[in-house]
Amino acid sequence: MRSFAGRDILSLKGFERAEYFRVFETADRLAQIARDRRSSDLLAGKILVTAFYQPSTRTRLAHESAMLRLGGQVTGFSDAKMTRAGDFYQESIKDTVHMLEFYGDVIVMRHFEQGAPAEAAKWASVPVINAGDGWGEHPTQVLTDMYTILKEKGTLDGLHFVLVGDMRMRTMHSMSYAMSQFDITASYIAPEDMSLTDEFKKEIDELSLEYEEVEHIDQVIDKADVIYMEPVVQPDYTKSRDERTGDVGKTPSNYQVTRELMKKAKGDSIVLHSLPRMDELSEEVDYTRHARYWEEAFNGVVMRMALLSLVLGKME
Ligand code: CP
Repeated sequence: MRSFAGRDILSLKGFERAEYFRVFETADRLAQIARDRRSSDLLAGKILVTAFYQPSTRTRLAHESAMLRLGGQVTGFSDAKMTRAGDFYQESIKDTVHMLEFYGDVIVMRHFEQGAPAEAAKWASVPVINAGDGWGEHPTQVLTDMYTILKEKGTLDGLHFVLVGDMRMRTMHSMSYAMSQFDITASYIAPEDMSLTDEFKKEIDELSLEYEEVEHIDQVIDKADVIYMEPVVQPDYTKSRDERTGDVGKTPSNYQVTRELMKKAKGDSIVLHSLPRMDELSEEVDYTRHARYWEEAFNGVVMRMALLSLVLGKME
């Protein structure tokens, strides 16, 4: 297995099965610190730089919280408009990263351009973590998802995943790569203009992922062990910011999960949503035994604790 020390976390493509378990074991070892709401000194003296060129609630703050829980410090920006990348100068990733690498020991970057964190990693002498790049990937979110599923189901093998929402979404790409490393079968449900692209299908075919595409969640809900959701009413992820203007429309029932629908699901099936949500996931599902998206808020911090300590070489 490749060492994690000094490594960039840019994509789950090529992330091996044993590497998932290495990350999950590390998360298990650190979880008690977060559970006890205390701090340790594992990353004392280390600084995390957050470079967010797109809005975020969970990903940025979970990384920051993880760093603080491990005794490290945090600097960075969450509004690129107030940096030289977002004003008249439109400073390049290369020039920006040549600065940021001296301000801290690890950089977490979210960007509206697919591949921007990989471009940053080319120039940075410190590890770069991809916190979501355009429609590209969202590896730390999906590591959190898979960790949550492992904790809830006790295994990642022999499961059927129902993925519903916009398949152009970065989480869906990372999730597809992740599923290919386990004995997982998948049903994808998306509107035609948001379905898996031919190019991406070719990639997952090459990874031997067993999957089908269906029209309505009703057709597959009874065989789901995991229901993994994204909105179909959502912003343009290739923009730095997409304001809501006027009526954005409603989610068709094909892509909605409701309490009524969950009556047809297996009793032990679980619903995950990376959040934020629109109307595709009814709030009434929050009060069913199936909801696991709030557990993910906790696991999201633990996962980032694991990743930061691994790439900073403290848990080899
Ligand atoms: N899940 C997720 O990426 O949420 P944020 O956009 O709030 O970071």
